[in-house]
Amino acid sequence: MAYPAHVDRPRTIIEPFRIHAVEPIRITTREERAAALKEVGWNLFSIHADDVLIDLLTDSGTGAMSRDQWAAIQHGDESYAGSPSWYAFLESVQVLWPFPHVIPTHQGRAAEKILFSVIGGPGKVIPNNTHFDTTRANVEFSGAEAVDLVIAEGHDPAALHPFKGNVDLAALEALLEERAADIPVVFVTITNNSGGGQPVSLENLRAVRAVCDRFEKPLFLDACRFAENAWFIKSREPGQADRSIPDIVREIASLADGMTMSAKKDGLANIGGWLAMRDDRLAEQCRNLLILTEGFPTYGGLAGRDLEAIAQGLREVVDEDYLRYRIRSTAYLGEALDAAGVPLVKPFGGHAVYLDARTLLPHVPALEYPGQALAVALYLEGGIRGCEIGTVMFGRHPDGSETPAAMDLVRLAIPRRTYTQSHIDYVIEVVTAVAARAADLRGYRIVDEPPALRHFTARFEPLS
Ligand SMILES: Cc1ncc(COP(=O)(O)O)c(C=O)c1O
Repeated sequence: MAYPAHVDRPRTIIEPFRIHAVEPIRITTREERAAALKEVGWNLFSIHADDVLIDLLTDSGTGAMSRDQWAAIQHGDESYAGSPSWYAFLESVQVLWPFPHVIPTHQGRAAEKILFSVIGGPGKVIPNNTHFDTTRANVEFSGAEAVDLVIAEGHDPAALHPFKGNVDLAALEALLEERAADIPVVFVTITNNSGGGQPVSLENLRAVRAVCDRFEKPLFLDACRFAENAWFIKSREPGQADRSIPDIVREIASLADGMTMSAKKDGLANIGGWLAMRDDRLAEQCRNLLILTEGFPTYGGLAGRDLEAIAQGLREVVDEDYLRYRIRSTAYLGEALDAAGVPLVKPFGGHAVYLDARTLLPHVPALEYPGQALAVALYLEGGIRGCEIGTVMFGRHPDGSETPAAMDLVRLAIPRRTYTQSHIDYVIEVVTAVAARAADLRGYRIVDEPPALRHFTARFEPLS
């Protein structure tokens, strides 16, 4: 849809939808929030969601579905094998990602588990720009090593680079020179979630493809936020402005041999994912595992109605009005916090704004978890739930050692089509107030943690 002439270049990018059904949110008192924190060992994943006012924990599966998605759900066909909903899903996926093999899974990590069970294992190395936590965990669980090779700017929260998710090509080549025999696949995550939701350029993807060709390695994408990445390519990369989003996505697909996907992001669905690839033999091995853990290959871990919601979501997510609003509304939050002097990862990511807790809390050492301290303070102050992406999430290693993560961030992830501008204005108010008294915040220690993915269930205690 084109804007009418007088609003062709509007200053305010409005939500391109009206609200059709509402969900109440509950305002709690500071005392209630303090008690809730104590009860759950200061782990925000364990807070009852009814006690959260603005939930920016994740953009994964938390978005609002459209009228047309809810209508599509009514078409869900629950046939065990060969459901029409499977064919609707398959067609929608292959319009954008024409891989011959599409394997539905209940979410992204199930696709990762299956893939790395087949191609991972002890002695193997998987390069990526930055592995997401579940990707790293699944690589490591298989016994393989996960290596992050994002460009140097990707480690510097303040560095301005239009494609901070790009792969460091020299580092990738050096790793392949040294260990080619141990590398079953090269991965690239679009957008680079753990590195600040930063996009990868088409130019970089083409160059990674050329390196993979030289070493005869397959290239796989962790494509959770592919539409947001394509929007950044369209708006930032020279020569791409006149292309349609589906066209850019199809070129990205043409550069890859396969993908893992969480449909909870740019599938605009509440659940779902898939694994796709060109290689027949690899697909057969993956389908064999799928049947053991997820289900029959025409539904994977999903109900027919979920397949329908994803099929419709994929049609909506490439709409330019949606993407313009999506990226602009995230930047709105970032720009306001930046103007208030809050240190942030810049440029702003597509799905989230990342607060630089290490810079904001220089008096809290990384091993006392500045990101955790900031995330807890935001909840206590205003009922806002963000997510630590730092030393709690990435500091513990398979050998039991603990080191500071590359950055200590708090991610404020924006659920898709869910909150309005006034909700975001409130978030700006609360973050600014907490930042103003950052010097008073203290670190945490972990009193209980599981062997992997500790951030989900660890219990903390505030340090005095
Ligand atoms: C980049 C990336 N990869 C993989 C995943 C895992 O997807 P899921 O949560 O559907 O298992 C996520 C989820 O947040 C992600 O952001």
